[in-house]
Formats: sequence, structure tokens, C-alpha cells
Amino acid sequence: MAAFHGSFGFAVPFSFLLAVAFSILSAAQATGPSSTCDEVDDAASLMHLRQTNGGSFGAKASEKAQVLSQPPGGDEAAILQVIDEAFEDVKGPGSFLQSNVHEDDSWQICGGINWPSNPSIAPGTTIYRDMEEFLGITQYCDPNTGSARDDATCKAIYAAQRAIFELAGQFPQGPKFVNASITAWGNHPSYIDGSVGPVAKDSMPPVAPILNGNAASGWILCDIVRTVLTQSADQAGSGVCGWVAPLGALSRRAPAQAIRMLVRLMWSGRASSQMSQPCPYIYDQQPGLVPYEDNQNRWHPSWFSGSDVHCSGNAADCQVAIGSPLQPAGATFAFTQSLLSSFRASVGGSCDLHPAQLNYPGAPKSLPESITTVQGQGNYGSLYACNTMIDPVNQACKLVVNTELRGSLSSADFMTLFAYPSEPLQMKQFSTVCKDTAARAEANGENIGQAVSEAIKQLAASSTWIATYFKTIMDIYGGDMQKALTLISLSDTWGTPSFTEDLLASVCKADVAFFSIDAEPMQNQGFTPESAVGRAGPYYPRPDGKEVKKVGKCDHAVFLESCDQESDLYTIWTWGSRRYFTKLGLLGTPATDAGDPNPAGPFNTGVLCSATLGSLSVP
Ligand SMILES: *[C@@H]1O[C@H](CO)[C@@H](O)[C@H](O)[C@H]1NC(C)=O
Repeated sequence: MAAFHGSFGFAVPFSFLLAVAFSILSAAQATGPSSTCDEVDDAASLMHLRQTNGGSFGAKASEKAQVLSQPPGGDEAAILQVIDEAFEDVKGPGSFLQSNVHEDDSWQICGGINWPSNPSIAPGTTIYRDMEEFLGITQYCDPNTGSARDDATCKAIYAAQRAIFELAGQFPQGPKFVNASITAWGNHPSYIDGSVGPVAKDSMPPVAPILNGNAASGWILCDIVRTVLTQSADQAGSGVCGWVAPLGALSRRAPAQAIRMLVRLMWSGRASSQMSQPCPYIYDQQPGLVPYEDNQNRWHPSWFSGSDVHCSGNAADCQVAIGSPLQPAGATFAFTQSLLSSFRASVGGSCDLHPAQLNYPGAPKSLPESITTVQGQGNYGSLYACNTMIDPVNQACKLVVNTELRGSLSSADFMTLFAYPSEPLQMKQFSTVCKDTAARAEANGENIGQAVSEAIKQLAASSTWIATYFKTIMDIYGGDMQKALTLISLSDTWGTPSFTEDLLASVCKADVAFFSIDAEPMQNQGFTPESAVGRAGPYYPRPDGKEVKKVGKCDHAVFLESCDQESDLYTIWTWGSRRYFTKLGLLGTPATDAGDPNPAGPFNTGVLCSATLGSLSVP
């Protein structure tokens, strides 16, 4: 801070400040609010990250997100002990049934069970009937006759039931995420009759007091098992694509582990000890009480009717989410909200930042807008999510990107900026203040440089994050403002697809891979292998109103479910569903940043910007 103030105590030429503002904005667009869909808790550690970023391009250590681990204590340790005991005989990642994989509105289907009557959750009771028949639990998992009874997934289902039964007995205060599990979206409320007080319908979002902490523990079991077995965790009408993708990946690659993590998450409030504690306010939120309108224009719950509903996803997210709630409830909410809140607190340094609020029908448009910003995930965020959830033991996830994007920067400096620990809200705040101040000063005929400099000084005085980010840029350009100007046009290009065949080949070798991708093609194409995007040539160029859109823009994060290089078929998991691409669809043909054919690239008419790769480890 002191250094920053010192070096900034003079009037800074206007052009440089704009350069910073614009480069930050475009970096945020390119790497960041990837969606609708980035650890470090003080300036010293941000700088530490920067200093350790040296080394060869692509070296694992240079792209490593620093994840703070916080050992469990108190209740959390006791909860873990119960879970460890219940899951003692669950060994390995577990397998899944292809026939179970489908889009599934778990919250509604789990609401088909009469939870108000407080049914038993013991094996063989009626609550499993639907799951037993349709998800094959009886046929495959029956402890005596099931043909896959020794599979870890089968064992994890019963272990979850035993753990929840035991936890409900030992912890009358109930799960940490009980509030997120209170919903009346299904036929039946998710909770035992009398265990939740009346819903205050006149407040938006609605609230209801929890009278019994274990009000919805049965529903939670159903929600966890269905979400994992169907691989259908869905961001719904929110912009949390990058934060839900690890849950999609775990459900696919390690369902037994996913079930265990979710039980832990719901009861203890976080899914892993390799993440700092999420911000406390998330445990008060009751997303399942927020009314939503389904595909048949029916409101749930039916007493509600509303208008002025604004999804917080990107255009593609929102189109796909028509008929869905504004945000998920239950385990998917707990997973995404805990991960993003822990991340923001660790990069931003505090939970006092604008909270990740609930969206609701009739909210002023500024609310979904700020929610969109908060939910964004930059490249660093993707590494954080991977190191926390996919490889918590080794934390060796890495980011791969076309090296030609670095321009005149050294590889290390490029990675520092490309994978900067962005706190999305402050990133946006910084750029907005710069631009607004400049425009106002110009209109008033004031010294623009001085005005903006003053504004940034003020902003930096209350934000270590902003001060540190700014200092990082200054350091990289050796304090040379003319050089720093070039960051505008450079970072502008980072959101244009530029992935290569070599990178794709390395991605396909990884255990788990996430892409930063252009969502648009997936909005209405590639629903079947036969109609994979790319079969009829690259998606771009294509007509866009009266114009032609020549290249894509990465605005989404997804899990790469599989690569079948022989059949030229790549399966992407997103929105709780699947989309298919050929290699040509993913990589397009070489082009300039503007989309004009250019054999040397480095850009292309495909859809991929970068990837985060990791190996699964079991904590
Ligand atoms: C549920 O939310 C209420 C506020 O609405 C809060 O007082 C309570 O502590 C929350 N429950 C848990 C387990 O965090």
C-alpha cells in the first residue's frame, strides 16, 4: 500500500489510466466473468504469487492457484468423523450407469416424496421407490442381490444414508446448509410438517424460520443421490458455470467421492479442508423459497405470480434456463455458493465484499447484474476450483493456453496477468471508476489525469486488491506507461478462441479438463453426436442480424466429459446436459483476431480459449 501511494502521488497521464481501465475490463471479459455462465488473502501473498510465477511457460508451479487449507475443528471435525466411519468401506471413485445420465430436476422429483409426513430414510422404505426403480438401485446395488453391490457408488449411497441418519441423531441443530434445502418447488415441501415456520410471502426473497434443524435431512439425501447419479447438477438461471463444472466432473469421474463430498458439504458447510471457510451469510440463504415459473407458465409455489424476471446468466445460459429456477437450491446451491464465496474471500481478502445474493422475481435489474459479476470465474478461479475440488491432495491443476497470446510479454509475465487472482467485483469497480471519472473530467474541462488519479487513490485506499493489481501491472511494464498501453489491445484478444491441436491432444490425456469456451453454439446446436457442432464446418462465420459474426468470444466454462479422437467426437458437459463437437467445431480454421482467414492464426473460428487440467485425488 505504502509503495503504491508513493508511486502514485503524482498526476498520471490520462492515456495510461485508460489503458489500465480498458485492459482490466477486457481481461475481465476474456478470462473472467466467464459466465453467466479466482487464493490469497492479503497483498503480501498476492505479491508472493507473482514472484513465484517465474519459470518456463507451462510449468505447473507457475500456474498454481494458492489454496489455503484450514483444518477442521469443533463440530466440523466431529461431523467428518461420522462421515469417515459411515464411508469406511467405500473405496475408489465408483462407476455410473449410462442409463441414469439425463437432465433431471432433482428438486422437483425429490419433492414427489411426502417429506412432511417425516418418512423413515432407512433402506427399503418408500422414499427410495422411485430411485430404486428408475435409477437401478435395487437391481444393481441391493446389498444381497445387486449385480454391482460391491461398486463404490452403490456403497456410497448406503453410506450416505447411514451418515445422514447418524448426523441427524448427533446434531439436532441439523446441517449447515439447512436453509438452502427448504423448498416448496416440488409437489410436497422438502421439510417435515411443523419443522419450518410460515413463509413470509410479503418479503422477497421469501424467508421462513427453521424450527427443527433436521427439517429437510431426508430430502437432502434424495437431492444428493439424484444429482450425482443423473450427473445433472445445473446452474439453472444463474451464472455459476465455472463453479458447478467441478460437480459435473466429480459426478461423472468419481460418483462415490461426489456423494461423500456433498454429505460433508451439506452438514459441515464446505466440501473440503483445502478451502478457506466460506462466508457465513451463505448459510442464511433460502434459494428454494424463491418462486419460479416453469415451462408451462406455472409458478412454483402456486400462490405466487410475478413478472420482471431477470436471469443472471449469459445469453445462452438464460435461454437454456427458461422454465428453471433463478438459481439452484439444495446441494448444487451449496456447492457453487460455498466454492465461489470461499474463493472471493480468499482473493479479495474479506467477506465484507458485496455478498453473492439471491436473485428473485421482480428484483431491480441492477441486482441480477451485480450477481452476474460476482458469479464470474476467471482463469485463476478455474484453477482454484480444480485444485480445491478435483485435486485437493496435490493441487497440481494447470492452465493451458496458446503461447502466442503473450505478445511482447515474457511467458511468466503473461501468465501473471492471464491467470491473475481476479476478484470479479473489484476488477469491474476499478475499470468503471476509471472510465466514469475520465468521462466526467473531460465533460467538465478538468485535468483528466489528475481526476482519475485522485479517484484511483481513493479506491485503492479502501481496496488492497485494487492497489496490488495496479502495482502488478506497473511492475510488469517497468513503470513505463507507453508500454503498458499495449496491454489494452493484447488482453482484448484473450477472449477470442485460439486453441491448438497440440493443446487439444494434451487436454484429452488429462484425467479431468475444463474449458473456457464460447457458449453461443451450444445454445441451439450439437444436441446429438450426429449433429455435432463442426460436422457442417466451423460454427463461424455466421449471420448475426444484418452483420456477419466472424469469430466467437469465450464467455462460459464447461467440463470436457470425453474425447473420442477416432470417431472425431468431443462431449461437453454443461447446464446439467451434453453438447457434441467435432475437432473442426472446437478448433475452427485459423484466423486473425477479427476472424479473417489467416493461415498463421493464432486465432480461429472455433470455440476454445484455454483449459484447466487436473488429476483426481481423494482427500
Ligand atoms: C438459517 O437462516 C437464518 C436467518 O434467516 C439464520 O439465523 C440461521 O442461523 C440459519 N441456519 C444455519 C444453520 O446457518
